[in-house]
Amino acid sequence: METLSLALQTRLAQPLSIGSVTLHSRVLQSPLSGVTDKIFRRLVRRYAPTAMLYTEMVHASGVCYVDTLPQIMEIDPDEHPISIQLFDCRPDFLATAAQRAVAEGADTIDLNMGCPVNKITRKGGGSSLLKDPAMATAIVEAVVKAVPVPVSVKTRIGWDDDHINAVEFARRMEGAGAKMLTLHGRTRAQGYTGAARWGWIARVKAALSIPVIANGDIVSVDAAIQCLEQTGADGVMCSRGTLGYPFLVGEIDYFLKTGQRAPTPTVIDRLLCAQEHLRQIAEYKGYRGICQARKHMTWYVKGFSGAAELRDALCQIESVAEGEAHLQGAIAQLTAQGETPRVWREMPRTDAQSWNPPPVQPNQPL
Ligand SMILES: Cc1cc2nc3c(=O)[nH]c(=O)nc-3n(C[C@H](O)[C@H](O)[C@H](O)COP(=O)(O)O)c2cc1C
Repeated sequence: METLSLALQTRLAQPLSIGSVTLHSRVLQSPLSGVTDKIFRRLVRRYAPTAMLYTEMVHASGVCYVDTLPQIMEIDPDEHPISIQLFDCRPDFLATAAQRAVAEGADTIDLNMGCPVNKITRKGGGSSLLKDPAMATAIVEAVVKAVPVPVSVKTRIGWDDDHINAVEFARRMEGAGAKMLTLHGRTRAQGYTGAARWGWIARVKAALSIPVIANGDIVSVDAAIQCLEQTGADGVMCSRGTLGYPFLVGEIDYFLKTGQRAPTPTVIDRLLCAQEHLRQIAEYKGYRGICQARKHMTWYVKGFSGAAELRDALCQIESVAEGEAHLQGAIAQLTAQGETPRVWREMPRTDAQSWNPPPVQPNQPL
């Protein structure tokens, strides 16, 4: 088990300034398209009262001139600090969309320059901006000029192994006015495979004055400590490690603040959390929510005998009642085998120095 060096502990105890915004947690929940909706974010927020949250990425040109903004831009009053992430390749559209995002309550605007998906890179957005630093610079400048809140950039280390330009690119983003940079330690060509190369994050951190957040393979408290030690980064951003595990950001935050490990949720805790997630997403999105819940359910269900069968059943649910019946059946079986819940809702959290103390109480229903 990793421990935190005194030097690191001291450095990370300080609040993190992103321009005019002060964060009281060094752990961030990443934007995850199709995942980090309001319901998922609420689960994360329960354990990480001060962590920065992100919406799913929002297509800027799709929100510039519409009367009704998409549901993915909705922010609840108790979600702060929260950033709305935008993607596009046109500075003017991004600037207008950023203004609308600020009107919705975004504390910062994050610009996606890392998405590897062809549909987006073909049009010049996401990670293809790594190949066009001049356009990326123009985008940051335009958005910075358009909004009163800090603007940040999330990107990768380069397009492919022959074109790793993270340091030069990051310097340009800083020069253009970005107030924070999150670096995913993979190239676009890597997609989501292979190890994240934290060495590049260390180089970028050494080259910039603005905060640098490390992203890629932050899947546990130990991984977070190793990454922070190796990179000197100002914080870590959790991504796939939170799928079916909205406790992760809070667990890391708790350790960084207290030096102690929060008790990990048991299998039953995770199934109870899955059940709550299912109910809430269905209430929020109707049948579409049930369809989306299927993938979430499969992420929650692992690590016990019978998990594969339960996943198969949950993949096909048509209603909340059906999903609950499957989950309750599994909970009953696990209880009969001697498994117990640890009352996951009451896992310790560090509320101290809250930004705007969120009105979430341990036993309050979502
Ligand atoms: C399902 C999924 C959706 C994602 N959506 C976004 C997104 O909307 N915006 C973004 O900047 N990155 C997105 N990412 C990338 C992650 O935020 C993160 O950079 C990447 O997964 C690396 O971290 P990891 O190795 O810890 O997963 C997505 C990744 C996944 C797996």
